[in-house]
Amino acid sequence: KDPVKIAVLGCGTVGTQVVRLLTEQADDLAWRVGAPVVLAGVYVRDTAVPRDVVVPVPSLTSDAEALIADADVVVEVMGGIEPARTMILQAIAAGASVVTANKALLAAHGPELYEAADAAGVDLYFEAAVAGAIPIVRPVRESLAGDHVTRVLGIVNGTTNYVLDEMTTKGLAYGDVVSEAQRLGYAEADPTADVEGYDAAAKAAILASLAFHQRVSLDVVHREGISTVTADDVAAAADSGHVIKLLAIAERVDGGVAVRVHPALVPLTHPLAGVHGAFNAVFVEAEAAGSLMFYGQGAGGAPTASAVLGDVVSVARHIAQGGRGPLESNYADLPVLPIDQV
Ligand code: NDP
Ligand code: HSE
Repeated sequence: KDPVKIAVLGCGTVGTQVVRLLTEQADDLAWRVGAPVVLAGVYVRDTAVPRDVVVPVPSLTSDAEALIADADVVVEVMGGIEPARTMILQAIAAGASVVTANKALLAAHGPELYEAADAAGVDLYFEAAVAGAIPIVRPVRESLAGDHVTRVLGIVNGTTNYVLDEMTTKGLAYGDVVSEAQRLGYAEADPTADVEGYDAAAKAAILASLAFHQRVSLDVVHREGISTVTADDVAAAADSGHVIKLLAIAERVDGGVAVRVHPALVPLTHPLAGVHGAFNAVFVEAEAAGSLMFYGQGAGGAPTASAVLGDVVSVARHIAQGGRGPLESNYADLPVLPIDQV
């Protein structure tokens, strides 16, 4: 079989781990895909900057166009809207399948990307975009596709869970904990996206779109972050037998769907109260399946790369052996209701 050529765009916290796993596990990947899986190149802005991973020198390039044109699969782990959006569209137009971890991009421009991928007959996979290592996109997108999902609820941002947890269990100050979350590779390039709830809202929009087969974009998600939560709030919650968690909730309601992100008081007896550090946990409720719980590492380079690699195997297998992932361009049109109408 011809090798499946993988181009990686970005070599930061997640990208370095993707490159590491692609090279270290090349033999296993070939078995799983049914063809050799080769790293065609890694796009970075400056090839002279030292990286936390051994990348064969000819593989590092600042010529994204040439790299994308020669790839079968493009893995986008740069983040941000541009140039990620343009490069993904270039990849799709060139007939490559795409794997991305970029929730901000999907929540803002998902429909454009899904339609382009469906029209070109290529895959667009994004397991790493929601809840790091936890397989949650695939269950909602595929395993529960024959059921009727009624609610998705949980902790989908590792940084804010880490910050609230450190404030609760160690009495640490908010600012110090945010810096530590950045150092550990949990936070976005701009941690405002985490602490103000934009990252969780983007993930809630993606999960709601998949669960309810609706177009839900970031701008219709009700959003409150944790930047105003004080040490006194955390202490008062503890005194009443609660813990403060940033929750994402997407549910079917009369006349539409409702999607919101905000800090909430969770009783200490609830399973979500036991989610510590940068871990995430998501409950999915479906009519036939009942209640399902997904739990694991929600942020960090290696956990996220695990999800990226799983997607790489799926789309590479389709290239080597035929087949395609689910279509996302045929959505219904239920209204997303404002929070005051729920
Ligand atoms: P980093 O900031 O650590 O890395 C981003 C990489 O992309 C860097 O190598 C950076 O280049 C490169 N890059 C950014 N913009 C450009 C550009 N315009 N041109 C060329 N290269 C560019 O981010 P992360 O690895 O943490 O995140 C990457 C993606 O993964 C984001 O979409 C994020 O939301 C997502 N994600 C991250 C998780 C995490 O825990 N960190 C978890 C789940 C998803 P340079 O090296 O020059 O700075
Ligand atoms: N910044 C994100 C978080 C990364 O803390 O959850 C994982 O998506």
